This record gives sequence, structure tokens and C-alpha cells, in this order.
Amino acid sequence: MKVIRLHDLEFEMFIAPEQINETVGRLALAINHDYQGRNPILLIVLNGAFVFAADLVRRLSIPLQMDFVKLRSYLGTASTGSIHEHFLWESSLKDRHIIIVEDIIDTGHTLHHLVGKVAAEGPASIETACLLLKPAARQYPDPVKYCGMEMPNDFVVGYGLDYDGLGREIAGIYKKI
Ligand code: XMP
Ligand code: MG
Repeated sequence: MKVIRLHDLEFEMFIAPEQINETVGRLALAINHDYQGRNPILLIVLNGAFVFAADLVRRLSIPLQMDFVKLRSYLGTASTGSIHEHFLWESSLKDRHIIIVEDIIDTGHTLHHLVGKVAAEGPASIETACLLLKPAARQYPDPVKYCGMEMPNDFVVGYGLDYDGLGREIAGIYKKI
């Protein structure tokens, strides 16, 4: 089995690129179906979600807009419990249909923080699309309508996800050994 090393940790293959591709296709199909005629704004959470979002938007066939927020809650391999906002969106979210695009939902703290901020702008609706979700780590109840895969409470890298800055460019998803 392929093992990769980033800083002081080793990771093994967890989700192959083909399986990610299939999952993104399934999410895109659902969003294409649900958002016809609604011109949503996809609010992409940097840094981690940039690869997922790039693949997802290229499979969407509905008119849409994109905007970006940059938040950070993770240091090393653990959620810190405090959210740092580097920047938020530029567009007006008022009366718009918003789809938050996240790479992974762990405790749910980042999503909860963001949903609160977005809701204060008076959007027409807010839903969330994420590639991965860790049900055992979840501490906040915000619904996730478009979830790619549920996974155990492991630390993962690749496909946009990093361990202290490394691993984002890896095509598959690897989990800490
Ligand atoms: P919370 O706990 O706020 O965490 O739901 C969500 C954010 O934390 C990052 N995160 C990870 N990053 N491997 C990573 O590289 C992981 O296993 C992992 N779990 C959470 C991620 O940035 C997400 O937006
Ligand atoms: Mg992230």
C-alpha cells in the first residue's frame, strides 16, 4: 500500500481519485437538479475546499456565481475551537440562494460560524455541500444537504486538505497512520 510522509507523520491511501470523481459527480447531479432557475452563489471556503470546488463547479450546468471566504480553525491535526476570519465574501448575499462549499466538516464549528454570518445577510436560502463529514466529531447541528462521504474520526490530507501546509496537491485522500 502506498504510504506518504508529510513533516513528521505518515499517511496511507484512503480514497482513490476515481472514487472522489464519482462522488463529486453525484453531488453535482443533485445540485444541478435542485438549483435550476435559482442562480445560486457558491461560497467556497478557502483554503481546503479549492480543489473540491474546482471539480464541482466544472460539473455544474446551471447558471451560478462564486465567491470566496477564507477561514481557519485547524492547527496541525486538531480543530482549535476558535475561528480566524482572513476575509469574507465580496458579493451581496441578500435574497440570494447560497451554497456553502466545504472540503470537510469535523466538529462543525467552522460551518456553524459561517452559517451564522451568512444568515445575517438575509439570503433567500442557505445549504451546504461538503466532500467529507466526520459524524463522530460533530458538535453542531447545522444541516448538510449535499454530503459526499461520511468517514471515521481520522485526520486526512490530499485533494486540497493539508497537514501544516503540505499535501494539498495530492490527487487522492490519505489518512494518518
Ligand atoms: P471544524 O472542526 O470546524 O473543522 O468542522 C473544519 C475545518 O477544519 C479542517 N479540517 C481538516 N483538515 N484534515 C485536514 O487537512 C482533516 O482531517 C480535517 N478535519 C478538519 C478543514 O479545513 C475544515 O474546513
Ligand atoms: Mg477548510
